[in-house]
Parts: sequence; structure tokens; C-alpha cells
Amino acid sequence: MLSTGAAAVCSLLLVGCFTHLTQADGLGQYAGQCLVGEPPLYDPEQAGNVPTFIVNLDEAPETRWNHIVVKYVTQIQAALDTVKKMVGVVENGILYDVLVHFMTGAVDSIQEPYRTELYAIANATGISVGEFTLMNLFYEVSKGCTSIVAQDANGVLYHARNQDFGTFFIWDTVAHQWEQTETLRNLLINVNFIQNGRPLFFGVTFAGHLGVLTGLRQHAFTLSTNARFGSTLPTLIPWLLEGGNARHFLMYTDRDVMQNAKNFQEAKDYLSTVPLFGSAYFILGGTQPGEGVIITRGPNSTDHVASMNASDPNGWYVLQTNYDWDKDPLFLDDRRTPGNMCMQALTQANVDHSGLYQV
Ligand SMILES: *[C@@H]1O[C@H](CO)[C@@H](O)[C@H](O)[C@H]1NC(C)=O
Ligand SMILES: *[C@@H]1O[C@H](CO)[C@@H](O)[C@H](O)[C@H]1NC(C)=O
Ligand SMILES: *[C@@H]1O[C@H](CO)[C@@H](O)[C@H](O)[C@H]1NC(C)=O
Repeated sequence: MLSTGAAAVCSLLLVGCFTHLTQADGLGQYAGQCLVGEPPLYDPEQAGNVPTFIVNLDEAPETRWNHIVVKYVTQIQAALDTVKKMVGVVENGILYDVLVHFMTGAVDSIQEPYRTELYAIANATGISVGEFTLMNLFYEVSKGCTSIVAQDANGVLYHARNQDFGTFFIWDTVAHQWEQTETLRNLLINVNFIQNGRPLFFGVTFAGHLGVLTGLRQHAFTLSTNARFGSTLPTLIPWLLEGGNARHFLMYTDRDVMQNAKNFQEAKDYLSTVPLFGSAYFILGGTQPGEGVIITRGPNSTDHVASMNASDPNGWYVLQTNYDWDKDPLFLDDRRTPGNMCMQALTQANVDHSGLYQV
């Protein structure tokens, strides 16, 4: 399940912006609110409104995405325009051109098949390869926000996450935040990835984004990735200047693990060791009771692993926002405390699609 939340802060690059804020009395619209016990909001029909496409991995990277992106040219352009506008607010529009210029230079350092796929979707749509690369790496540094793996009383696992991108360079211009979330909502798609004529894995992404934001490999595992504040730039800038592909972008990592790991343990091992550009939280669910884990990653290291724990009264779920296990969340962005309180209000007995959607 996936829902698009509002009013959450989950970008890596906007740390500097917080200095413009003053602490208000209370948090107003940003305060936590638990809807457990309120009328149910989950509507399976609405989930069916997100279109589903097939990407055939046996088909050449030159063509495998084209049938999707050609349907979304207008919407992709609108999403890029919002980014341009948001960047423009800070840097008079120059930053956008600089970013696209860098991305155009960097695309040849992106590993296959993603490089060819980027050129191909640029060809198919007439949108520049630099802009597509920016769009793909933009999500690299702004993946949020809250992910939960929870186990019901029968040991059945559920994996829930929300997504909010309205906060890349600025967050306090509510109109822009809303505008960007809306433009992205129009790009939301489900993709069935097929290999050897069979479904291999299923992912949720945005048209034009070649990775998976949330994925499921049947009878194996589920995965979502949350942004972690920290060190993307020290590895990203040398890459932009010099190229090289020893490290993995999250967008590749998610798709690669979906494609290659056959079970929960293989996925966990891979996600704990793959060298990354940035920091991230991988939220991984399995098929067996107790298979729920949060892997806190730095570029070279696994800094922390939190697992479901049958001996702990709250060990029937794991929950991750965009803050480390041992650090207090930013005062205006504490989604963890309300998230945990709301999970505990829900109780394990009420874990299902509807219950988690209320959380
Ligand atoms: C993109 O189009 C150019 C010119 O038509 C062509 O040479 C190139 O092979 C295409 N690239 C991809 C990846 O489709
Ligand atoms: C990661 O490893 C590289 C090369 O081994 C090193 O230069 C870099 O400082 C390390 N980064 C961190 C955050 O430890
Ligand atoms: C599981 O929970 C129990 C009770 O809170 C605790 O003592 C134990 O250390 C936990 N185990 C792990 C691996 O965290």
C-alpha cells in the first residue's frame, strides 16, 4: 500500500533552510494526528486508480520503458517545471541550468542498463537526457518518509509507506509543496517487471523514474527506502566531476536487489553491504513471522540494524521515518513519536490494510 502524505520533511539537501524557521507555539498543521479509531479512510478502489504497466526485462533497454513514458510527456514536463520553479526561488533559476548541465555530463558515468534506458526515454519523449537524469537523482536524495513493516496476530506481514517529495530545496512554501506533490501524484505508476516470460517483481514508481520506490518480490520480500540525512554530497560531487561507478545509486540498488535477491536473507545481506553514494534506511519485510528489519546505511557501512523482536511488547512492527534510532527528530518534523503512538493505539490485533492506512 502506498499513500501520499503532506506536511512532512524528508529531504537531504534542505538542512540549511531550517535556519530560516522559528519555533512557533505548537505545531499547527504540522502536529501529529492519529486517525486510529476514526472512520476508515482506506479505499481499495482508489488504489486501483494507479495505472499498472509491464516492463519486460528481456526487451532491450533501448525500448523497454518507451510505451510508458510517451504517455506521460506532459506530466513529466510539469513535474520538471515545478522543480525548476522551486530551484528558481532559491537561486534565480540559474541553479536548474547548472544542475541539468552537470547531469548531461554525468549520464555516461551511470551504469548499465540505466544509462541506455535514460537515453532511450529521452529519445522517446524529446525531454533532454540531463533533465531525466536530474529527475532520477532528485529522488535519490529526497526519498521519504515513513515506512512500517508490521505483523498481524497470525504472523502475516504488511509493509506500508507514505511518500512526500514537496520539500527538496524549500519546504515552507506550502503552495509549492502542494504543487509538487500534485505533479508527482500524476506520475505515479505500478510496474510489473517481467523476466523470462514470468513476473519477477512488482514496484511503485513515477513515470520517468527508472528505479522502484517501493517493491515486492513475490514469495520473497518487500522493500522501501527512506532518506537519511547526511553524506550524499561528498560522494556525489566527485562522481559528477570525475565519473566512475563503484558506488550505487539508490535507484539502482532497489531495482538490483529486487531482480537478484531470491529471499529475505539475500536481500538483507546485499542491502547491508552494497557501496552507496549516500546514506539511507532500507526497510525490508519478508514472508515469515519476525522478518521485518530496518537497515541504517552510510555510504560504506551499516550503522544499525533494528529487527522485529518477539520478546519485546512492541516488537511486532518496525517503523522508520528519516531520523536515526539514537537521535531526536527535528522538533517540527517528529513523525516517529506520533507514528509509534499510533501503531500502539492500533494494536497488533488490528494490523491490516485499513488499520495501517489510518496510521
Ligand atoms: C537515440 O536516438 C539517436 C538518434 O536517433 C540514436 O542514434 C540512438 O541510438 C538512440 N539511443 C537510444 C538509447 O535509443
Ligand atoms: C568510504 O570509503 C571511501 C574509500 O574507501 C573513503 O574515502 C570515504 O571517506 C569513506 N566514507 C565514509 C563516510 O566513511
Ligand atoms: C528483544 O527484546 C527484549 C525485551 O525488550 C530485549 O531484552 C532484547 O535485547 C531484544 N533483542 C534484540 C535482539 O534487540
